[in-house]
Amino acid sequence: MQAAASEIESLRLQIAHHDYRYFVLDDPEVPDAEYDRLMRRLRQLEAEHPELVTPDSPTQRVGGRPQDQFDEVRHLSPMLSLENAFSEEDVRNFDRRIRDRLGGDQELIYACEPKMDGLAISILYEDGLLVRAATRGDGTTGEDVTQNVRTIRSVPLRLQSRGWPARFEARGEVFMPVDGFRALNAQSEGRGDKTFANPRNAAAGSLRQLDSRVTASRPLEMIFYGLYAPDESTLPATHSGRLAAMRDWGLRPSAEARTCVGIDAVLQYHDEIASRRSLLPFQIDGVVYKVDRIDLQQRLGFVSRAPRWAVAHKFPAEEELTLVRGVEWQVGRTGALTPVARLEPVFVGGVTVSNATLHNIDELRRKDIRIGDTVIVRRAGDVIPEVVSVVMDRRAPNAKPVELPISCPVCGSGIERGEGEAVARCSGGLFCQAQVKESLRHFVSRKAMDVEGLGEKLIEQLVDRGLVSSADELYRLNIEMLAGLDRMAAKSAANVIEALEASKNTTLERFLFALGIRDVGEATARALASHFGKLAALMEANEEQIQQVRDVGPVVAGHVHAFFAEARNRHVIQRLVDSGICWPDVERPEPLASPLTGKTVVVTGTLSSMSREEAQALIRKLGGIASSSVSSKTDYLIAGEKAGSKLAKAEKLGVTILDEESFTRLVSTLAPEGD
Ligand code: IVH
Repeated sequence: MQAAASEIESLRLQIAHHDYRYFVLDDPEVPDAEYDRLMRRLRQLEAEHPELVTPDSPTQRVGGRPQDQFDEVRHLSPMLSLENAFSEEDVRNFDRRIRDRLGGDQELIYACEPKMDGLAISILYEDGLLVRAATRGDGTTGEDVTQNVRTIRSVPLRLQSRGWPARFEARGEVFMPVDGFRALNAQSEGRGDKTFANPRNAAAGSLRQLDSRVTASRPLEMIFYGLYAPDESTLPATHSGRLAAMRDWGLRPSAEARTCVGIDAVLQYHDEIASRRSLLPFQIDGVVYKVDRIDLQQRLGFVSRAPRWAVAHKFPAEEELTLVRGVEWQVGRTGALTPVARLEPVFVGGVTVSNATLHNIDELRRKDIRIGDTVIVRRAGDVIPEVVSVVMDRRAPNAKPVELPISCPVCGSGIERGEGEAVARCSGGLFCQAQVKESLRHFVSRKAMDVEGLGEKLIEQLVDRGLVSSADELYRLNIEMLAGLDRMAAKSAANVIEALEASKNTTLERFLFALGIRDVGEATARALASHFGKLAALMEANEEQIQQVRDVGPVVAGHVHAFFAEARNRHVIQRLVDSGICWPDVERPEPLASPLTGKTVVVTGTLSSMSREEAQALIRKLGGIASSSVSSKTDYLIAGEKAGSKLAKAEKLGVTILDEESFTRLVSTLAPEGD
């Protein structure tokens, strides 16, 4: 018994020490497996000696049965709130006010730390043991959430080292890191449960659980920023000193906490944290500045419920509420219809937002966004604004669901939606003015034909006035035609014509990219250009030949082939070339003359000396066509280990079959050295 008791005590001390290394110092001493071993041993001993179980044991984080309600708790001293500052001017005024009040002209030292976006919790420690945890409530009394806070691993049940007052409250913020929040929502979504709108709500929802086992399953953390003891003289004389003491005791303060001398340094701290805001693993809504010296804090005192010695310098909110005025459908270059919410303008993330993309009809349905709804709009960092969710409590009875239009809102053509596809498309092609405008915009863009000065507004006018309806017609414009347009003087018109002229000297890959073939981005355009070398060769290639290009699969090959098969496209290309668009020949190694030149070859089974992809690349290099299916047109089948149905089919069709050895022999005599 004596031996068990002392081993139990030793295990608890070791575990508390490892928690401290892990959660406070972020510098674990032992691998997880060792930690788990200590926990297992402790559990085992406690099971054998239930009378030795104490509430501060690390095995006792999750409480017994669910509670019926939360009891009321009176805080040792009121939990205050903070005055807000929204601008540099507000902050300078704050500094001036308190310096005037203190009557000295010395610069003040401020303790600066992030303003965590979670919920305030006060924890009572007695003789180094966690005895009670409470929410802020009305500031004087809060709710007893001890059972739930005990499940948060970064909150010590028993303090480290020594030197703590016999009785004190440690205050801080409980929050959910962004990663944990995303994972939790993904899990809930998978189960068809309701998701949380943001990490703050998730933290609050997780902490207000009557069953602490639920809280234990949520990724909550705590950071401490304040200390209250009945006898102040037992605590360090500065805020920064108190944070350091808390850290020694195992109560983790923010790793971003700093002291700054004078208000300029404070503002610099603000800018530095603001620039890293989106990179932090948790959400913050500002930074907090506190006069570091406690004696000065005491001289400054309070106004109503906020201290004069501290201020919260808030960042622009990243989420705001606003109204959905309507939903419009935008038609893209390939006809894709994108729903865009027209919002009551709202200031969020530092800019005024009046539109937000809703991506596609599925997304719109999933979020169940209706016209007239109040929604949460989010704009974080430089990310484009998005509608996070609908505030269902505020849904008006006449809120109108959004339907996919039956016809294109621009040209009236039918709408197509492929089986299993999220995107609906206008079938109007180049008959649709929206698609024409978008494809012209793409054609002249920097990575395509790079025509300077031919902006969106100008394209809009050219199409609306019937001056241009396809790319080739751009090269028939002249100064007179342009000079008559809005905001076009003779000089700017001349510049545009000159830029068009200059764009004619291009490269094949830019030209291919500019054509706006579906799914042909820069990389694919480059691959097509270097594979075929000549435009004519690409235009005459069949799907199988196009599939020989690196990284081009059957879908893209289909789009490319269909594009060049279309008479209207061939006509536009002819006119573009006739107007003088040209490019230097693409340098391309001639394929070697080999027994595989022009032959269709299929590789099947497992090869021992190379992957199937490598074998196909070799076939191409030798002038052959690497195909994936066996047909009567197949010339050779290369059969590796475990070749199955393709081998059987080839045998049936009388295709010449090569084993790996004959293939490698062929390749080694012919493939050039090096690449
Ligand atoms: S100090 C008297 N420091 O902000 C000082 N508060 O608006 C009282 N908060 O209820 C709080 N991070 O929930 C302080 N580093 C920080 C904070 C912080 C977040 C929250 C806290 C408080 C609210 C006050």
